[in-house]
Order: sequence, then structure tokens, then C-alpha cells
Amino acid sequence: MLGLGFFNEEFMKKIVVLISGSGTNLQAILDACQNQFIHAEVCAVISNKPDAYGLERAKNAKIPTAVFERKSYPSNLAMDQTIGDFIESTAADLIVLAGYMKILTASFTQRFAGKILNIHPSLLPKFPGLDTYQRALDAGETEHGVTVHFVNEEMDGGAVVLQAKVPIFPEDNVGDIEKRVRVQELQIYPLVVKWFVDGRLKEIDGKAYLDGNLLPASGYASE
Ligand code: GAR
Repeated sequence: MLGLGFFNEEFMKKIVVLISGSGTNLQAILDACQNQFIHAEVCAVISNKPDAYGLERAKNAKIPTAVFERKSYPSNLAMDQTIGDFIESTAADLIVLAGYMKILTASFTQRFAGKILNIHPSLLPKFPGLDTYQRALDAGETEHGVTVHFVNEEMDGGAVVLQAKVPIFPEDNVGDIEKRVRVQELQIYPLVVKWFVDGRLKEIDGKAYLDGNLLPASGYASE
């Protein structure tokens, strides 16, 4: 149609973001869409916690929100089925987990295989799960970091796309390390989402490819 810009909404890819908490990663992605670093729109924000501050961020950005609480469903499977149906109804191209602190069922991850990204505050495969900062300190690590990866049925599992490392100094406490990691999170997640939206990043048979090149196990440019 004449007069339509290439990045007209009609052609824009759609992203659904799942959250459970403060939503700083959500905000970074909203901002990156707003300033057209990412050429896509966040079409819905989903939370499993009705009081997640990220829902306020979505409302401020005039993005539709939906809350699905575990107590409303007989099983994890039933909950994920409902969330999946909702996501399908939005025709989203990409599902972004941004601090969604509930393990997704295999039926959900398989239903949307190759379309789900997660961010996790460790250098996976080290420290999947909770309390990664404390565990890195306890293990005497001298570096920690953050990973963006495709999602499979394992907790914090799936092909790694990009990692950012931060140092751990001898006098550090958990807060020091978290602060350093969070700065990196807000840099790398919008970048990976942009790669996906631009069609540069794909997952095929459980492996991540950027521009057709297989990414190494620790993701792109890990050093
Ligand atoms: C982030 O640090 C993210 O890496 C982590 O939750 C936090 C959410 O913060 N995710 C996980 O631990 C996933 N296993 P946010 O709500 O401010 O974006």
C-alpha cells in the first residue's frame, strides 16, 4: 500500500513479555521499542503475580496486561495451556521471559519452540535456579554474569545466545555483584531481542544461529 513506512505497525513483529517482578528488563525492552532500536511492538505483558511492579510499567506504556495466577488453575499444565492460548490469540512472534519466576511446562516450551527467550543472572550452565549471586560468592568465583538463551524444557536451559561477564572482587557482597550484573542485563537483552526481530537469530534443533552461523556453547562473543 502506498505511503506506508517499512516499519508501519502492520508489518511490525509482536512481542509478549512475561514477568513476575519489578520489570527493569521489561522497561529496557519497552524503551528500545519506543526509540526504534527494536523494530517491534510489545503487544502484551503477562504476569503470574498481580502485584508485580512491571504491570505498572506496562500500563504506563499503554500496553495490555494479563495476570494468570497459579491458584486459579488445577495444574501447571492447565495454567500454561491458558497462557499459551492467550499468547496465540495475540499472534505474537516472540515470547520474552523477563524475570518470570515460574518454571514453564514442557508442553508450553515445545508449543513455542524457537520463539522463547530468557535472561538468567549467571554464566549458564553455571548456577541455574535461584540465589545465583550468593552461590557464586560461596563457590569463590572471581567472575559472574548474565546469559540470554532460548528456552527448552529444562530450568534455565536452552541454547545460549549471549553472555556478559562481570568481575567479583574479594570484598564484594551479593548487592555489589547484582548491581554490576543488572547493568549488563539491560544492555544485552534488548540487543538479543533486536537480533531475533530482525530475523538474524534463530533456533534450529536446539541450537542457536546468528546470521546463519552456529553460535558456540557460550554464545556470541563470549570473551
Ligand atoms: C533479573 O535479574 C533476571 O535476570 C532474573 O530475574 C530478574 C528480574 O528483574 N531472572 C531469573 O532469575 C530467571 N531464572 P526485573 O523484573 O527487574 O527485570
